[in-house]
Amino acid sequence: LGHAVLCAEPLVGDEPFAVILADDLMTGDNGGPGVMAQMTAAFQKQGRSLLAVQEVPLEHTKRYGIVKGEPAGGPLMRIDEIVEKPAPEVAPSRMGVAGRYVLTPRIFDEIRNQPKGVGGEIQLTDAIERLMQHEAIYAFQYAGKRYDCGSKEGFLQATVELALQHADVGSSFREYLKTLSL
Ligand code: G1P
Repeated sequence: LGHAVLCAEPLVGDEPFAVILADDLMTGDNGGPGVMAQMTAAFQKQGRSLLAVQEVPLEHTKRYGIVKGEPAGGPLMRIDEIVEKPAPEVAPSRMGVAGRYVLTPRIFDEIRNQPKGVGGEIQLTDAIERLMQHEAIYAFQYAGKRYDCGSKEGFLQATVELALQHADVGSSFREYLKTLSL
């Protein structure tokens, strides 16, 4: 992920930017703004890098970047620790990073100098940990729901739930589901 983000530097230039991981499908609360819209609004107010987070089950900490920090008002938490995919025994908390980030451009310098981390990959999480030594970074507890489409179960949940809400196919899909003997 770190290398992928660095590849975008020529397009982004010296500006803050958003990272959207497509395998995390995020929806805002009923009728409310989407998660990235919530984050960009928060960024406009305080101008610091933001990572979307949600509480995850302890046994899932090894799937995510995990953060620890201090409450900073409303949905914000100032991060003082971030670790990529820790085992439950060493995880600093259960706050897992979801695939939405708003980052300041200094992250590119940190990624450029970032050795490989967990899994032999250049991790964005490790570069964020280094960025934290220069700039405050905040976790943002979004209002909404995340579907982890990197897992088969999450992908299926997203497909069914969003199909049911879909303006064109929602009602016929609901009728179809009712015909299944579950
Ligand atoms: C990436 C990040 C991880 C983050 C996750 C969110 O992991 O490295 O910190 O929690 O996305 O989905 P990946 O899913 O690419 O293994």
